[in-house]
Amino acid sequence: MDLLDRLMEDHDQLRRALDRLSAEICQGRDGSGLPAGWKVRSEEELVRALRLLLPALLAHEEIEEKLLYASLAEAGQEEEMFRILGADHHALETMIQSLTSILTGERDKPLAWLVATTLRLVEMTTEHMRREEYEIFPMVRTTLTRRQLKELGRRAESILHPAAH
Ligand SMILES: [Fe+2]
Ligand SMILES: [Fe+2]
Repeated sequence: MDLLDRLMEDHDQLRRALDRLSAEICQGRDGSGLPAGWKVRSEEELVRALRLLLPALLAHEEIEEKLLYASLAEAGQEEEMFRILGADHHALETMIQSLTSILTGERDKPLAWLVATTLRLVEMTTEHMRREEYEIFPMVRTTLTRRQLKELGRRAESILHPAAH
């Protein structure tokens, strides 16, 4: 599987995890000080859905940084990448770290913060993946050779599943 096929498969899985997460936050008023118009179906389920999503999202973005974006930069596309994505990865990483520190109990924040940050994460990740799929991945296909993409896919596999290699 080449690197782009692998990343597209990740995006599909991440979209399913984002849907599960969004399903825990619905519109309505519960009077508990949540961002206007929102309510949480079950706080436990929200935390469970975040625990599933966050490591997968972080691993995905790290693979992209290490393999895809590094190869694009090497091929002289750094400026174009920045024009399209800006500081998306950095912003996502910061948000993932803050949410993780709440889940591990390192920091304490009210539920309203967790909900507001989760909603922002869902929106930002969805938009980020759309930009990658519509602008970055097509650019990758014309910049890197099929052979390079296959080799990068193999490296992605060995990073994600080191025991199998
Ligand atoms: Fe990304
Ligand atoms: Fe991605």
